[in-house]
Formats: sequence, C-alpha cells, structure tokens
Amino acid sequence: MKKVICLFICLLCLCHAQQPAAQKPEPKKFPEEVLQTPPVVFAIGHDYQIMVPVVTETLLSCEINGKTYYDANNGVICTATPVRRITVPQAELDAAKEYTLCCRVVTKRGEYYTKTEPLQKKTYKFRPLEKTDNIKIFMLADTHNRVKAPTDAVKYYDKELDLLILNGDISEGLSNYNNILTNYKIAGGITNGEIPVVYSRGNHELRGAMAEQLPLYAPNRDGNLYYTFRVGPIWGIVLDCGEDKDDDHAEYGHTVDCHSFRLKETEYLKNVIANAANEYNTADVKYRLIVSHTPFMHINEKPFDIELDIYREWCKLLRENVKPHLMLCGHFHTIRVVRPGHAWDHLGQPCTVVVGSRPGKTMDEYTGTAIELTEKNATIRFVHNTHKIEGEDVIEFK
Ligand SMILES: [Fe+2]
Repeated sequence: MKKVICLFICLLCLCHAQQPAAQKPEPKKFPEEVLQTPPVVFAIGHDYQIMVPVVTETLLSCEINGKTYYDANNGVICTATPVRRITVPQAELDAAKEYTLCCRVVTKRGEYYTKTEPLQKKTYKFRPLEKTDNIKIFMLADTHNRVKAPTDAVKYYDKELDLLILNGDISEGLSNYNNILTNYKIAGGITNGEIPVVYSRGNHELRGAMAEQLPLYAPNRDGNLYYTFRVGPIWGIVLDCGEDKDDDHAEYGHTVDCHSFRLKETEYLKNVIANAANEYNTADVKYRLIVSHTPFMHINEKPFDIELDIYREWCKLLRENVKPHLMLCGHFHTIRVVRPGHAWDHLGQPCTVVVGSRPGKTMDEYTGTAIELTEKNATIRFVHNTHKIEGEDVIEFK
C-alpha cells in the first residue's frame, strides 16, 4: 500500500513539474491601453471637469501641484463608470499649467482586499486662456457622429486654438455608448487635454435610451446641463433649450418634459442675474458669451413657434441684464450672422447671434465656426474642413 501511495505522490510531482509556471498578465499600458481617448478639460463654473472614457475598471486620480483630486462618489472612488470625471479648481490648474493622471487598473474588485495593477502616471501640459485679446475659439455643432471632418476644420487654428466649443448634436442620438464617445473622440483628439473645452447639449442628445444617463458621461453642474463658465477673460452661460418641438409631439413618444426643464432654467437665469457681481460683473470679465445649441429665432420659411413666452423672457433677461457680446448657436445646419432686428429676430434677441454649423451631404464634409475676439470686435469665419472660408463677418462691440 505504501508503495502505491509513494508512486501516486511521485506522479503528482512529475505532472506539476512539467506544467509551465502560471503567467502573471502584463499590466495594461497607461494611457494607451486604459484611456479610450485623450482627456478633455471642460470648463464649468470656476472649476474644470477633467473627463476621459476608460476601457476597463480603473482607479483614476489627478495630481496638481502636489495635491490629489479623485473621481469619488460619497467617499467611494469610482471604478466602474466608463467615463471618469475629476473636478479640479480652475485657479489651481491655471497656475500649475500641468496635471498628472494617476491610474491603477483594478484586477479584482471585492468587498475586501480589492486588487489593482501598479500605479502608473502621465503628465499633461495645460495652456489656460491668459490673453485678453486675439482669442481664438472654434465652435463645432451638428457634427452628427462625424469625427474626422470637424476635427480637420478645427485644425484651421492649429496650435493657436485657445478654446474649443462643442455646441450640441455632436452625436446623431444617444441610443448607444459609441455615440456618447463622439464628444471624446473629437474633443480629446483635438485638444489632447491641453486647452479648455465648453460643452452644450443639442436636441438630438435627448433622444435614445442613454439620453437620460447623459449627465454621467458629460460635464454638468450638479446634474444640470445648463451652467455658467469662466475661461480667462470670458464669462459664458450655456443654455439648453431641450427638444425643438412641443413635448407632446408624436416623434418623442411621451419621453420628454422640456417645459418643466425650461422653467427651471428660467429660475437659474434669474439667480445668475441676481448674483451678477460674482458672475459676469467682475472686473476681469471682458467678454460675455451665450452658448446655446438652438437659436430661439425664426429661420427663413420655418417659424420658431414653441414656448414663445419662455424664450421671450430669456431674451429680455439676457438683453437687459447680461448684455452679451455674442450668442453662439448651431441647429439650423446653416451658416449665418443674425443681428438684432433681422427678419429672423421675432423675440428681441439679446445680441448678435452666430449660427455656425453646416454638416455636408456626406460624412466627409463639415463647416464650423472660427471666432477671433478682440476688445473691439469679433471676426467670424465659417471654415470648411478643407479650410476654405465659406463666409466672413466682423461684429463690432459697442
Ligand atoms: Fe439640433
């Protein structure tokens, strides 16, 4: 019997010796195997929300000048959400001019002893908007899932770009996560996380099963997609008009309540005006912008005829209090500068409105808007992806 047991043990040992040692998987390379796109630095209020889509369960934090900021929810550092958001004070990042993303890929998430790969880091340069003149902005709207053509259009400014504005309908709709990624493919690809970006939702981004989850994947103010922002001498307000037809339109199939949403936004606008001394009336604000996907005005033969009382009130509040320099819009798939009193201005628009996005007939064509701000005026150029200028205008500031 003893001999049998010995033989069995020997066989076991032999088998074990012949098996190759269990290979430990190589850690994922950071950032290329962890981040789906470069990061995007969104301006919200007096903060930046540094956001980036990740491919796997990852702990991501950000170091600025020796201080660490986390993507945490009520004390729990996020590992599962596919887009990470790390909120940092603008003043800190503007002063440091660089930030370091710190990554630990999670290999085992448990209630106890969660395991991660080793810490990896990458530092990104950041160029805050510090100049007060000759500011170069590019606005993209209505890209409708295009990535290359709008990216090529923005290259008109090459390294001189100071601020990128994504002004809605960047995706065709939000029925899947890949459409949400369009924001990051465009903005991450253009900026590499090195200059600020302003984001505003378009009406197409209220459509589809993932639309209700957009605040998880997009910059926002406590869940709200309308907010004020600062970028250097620019103060701006992002207004979100929601959908472009009445809530009971058959197209929406009972899935929207934009009327209540707009009323809440009216209250927010009134609060911003009441707080003007800390918003647009500070000494360092030189330019006041409105960013809204939908221009609340007529276009040619198509009347703008929903929620007229609400939009008339928005126009009055903005015109009489904020006195904006420019309102930047898309939505109409056309390129046009519309001054107050124009035939399209039926509600008393608060300032000159630039409607500036024209997706082409194919996915390879796109025209966006290049804006140069000086203390006297704004030069508007409608720029095709081939860099052909399709229209130009100069708006004098009073
Ligand atoms: Fe639109």
